[in-house]
Amino acid sequence: MVAEISKGLEDVFIKTTTLTNIDGIKGILRYRGYDINDLVEHGTYEEVIYLMIYGSLPTKEQLNTLKEKMKKHYNISSDLLNILAKLPKNADAIGMLEVAFSVLASGEVDYKWKPDADKEKAIELIAKSLSIVANIYRIKEGLPVKNAVIKESYAETFLNVCFDKPVPKEFVNVMDKALILYADHEVPASTTAALVVSSTLTDMASSIVAGLAALKGPLHGGAAEAAFKQFIDIGNVNNVDSWFNKHVLENKERLMGFGHRVYKTTDPRSKIFKRFSETFSKYNKEVDRYYQIASKLENLATNEFSHKGIFANTDFYSGIVYYGLGFAPYMPTPLFALSRVTGWLAHVMEYVEEQERIIRPRAIYVGIDRRDYVPIDKR
Ligand code: ACO
Repeated sequence: MVAEISKGLEDVFIKTTTLTNIDGIKGILRYRGYDINDLVEHGTYEEVIYLMIYGSLPTKEQLNTLKEKMKKHYNISSDLLNILAKLPKNADAIGMLEVAFSVLASGEVDYKWKPDADKEKAIELIAKSLSIVANIYRIKEGLPVKNAVIKESYAETFLNVCFDKPVPKEFVNVMDKALILYADHEVPASTTAALVVSSTLTDMASSIVAGLAALKGPLHGGAAEAAFKQFIDIGNVNNVDSWFNKHVLENKERLMGFGHRVYKTTDPRSKIFKRFSETFSKYNKEVDRYYQIASKLENLATNEFSHKGIFANTDFYSGIVYYGLGFAPYMPTPLFALSRVTGWLAHVMEYVEEQERIIRPRAIYVGIDRRDYVPIDKR
């Protein structure tokens, strides 16, 4: 066997999937065959959860059953709320999420994978993510923790736990679409981390912890927060040229929210988030300021990098949309995680139930072949 390393596991295939299909050249993203644009236009996050977990879009009855099931799990135990409330207000939000799912994993003693029970467990964890992320936001904002008051949809219930005031219908609608956009994306670093962990047959909450740990980094989900903070740093549309020249062209810093391992054209999700930011920008001056900065920066960077296949990815505009919804600048990555739990769990179930084999790659040893042990006083 000739051992070869694919740096960054580029073009290495880890599993087959019927979940998500990406055409990185044409800029197409489909969940189980449905185009992301159609799902965002016509679907709801709950329909997408059903699609990813059960394989098809639900009938009305199936959707109602799913919603009723999820409502039973929206709230988390007071023990978990108290643990989260003890973390410092300035703790990293994804770190706090890791704590929350580690607590849930601590309750999983001797988890046994079984297809029907797994789906139930996945629905429970997706539902619980709502209260976890919303209460992390509340804690970081200095607000008391709160139980979910059940509203019509996942998005509405979530926004309602986060904010202590009624949320306009249009905001609920945009939150719902953002949840759809981030629900899955084949096998990026976080999903791969979750797959590695679940391939040992550990429980699902533990695989979410692995997914979160990988998501946090600025090259992956952390870019959503970093991209928005770039716009804050730039401050004004008149500063975009000088900022770009100094940071990106002279200092060779990576532009956050740009570039992708799979897409060699604009990420289709980025176009949708851009549209939502543009809509928000008409009603909110601050959003408009960030939108103007972001679109000018996108033009400059596209001119500079398109010949290398580097374009805006999903994280470029999403932070502006979340800011428009009323969230603080540290929230884009936790909000990404909120819906990616669905994709992580759908992928780990697909792997464990259909293709299970422990993921255990090799490393090519390039160190010294053999050495004699030298006692410490003779080194
Ligand atoms: N800004 C400037 N240059 C870039 C960028 C960027 N955002 N992304 C890639 N490049 C350049 C690299 O410098 C490299 O140039 P070179 O060939 O001249 O050395 C070339 O493009 C290839 O870059 P790689 O790092 O090899 O590409 P890879 O596929 O490994 O990385 C990644 C993809 C991590 C997304 C990269 O594009 C990046 O760092 N982007 C910024 C962070 C980001 O937005 N991450 C979110 C990705 S989407 C998501 O996870 C949801």
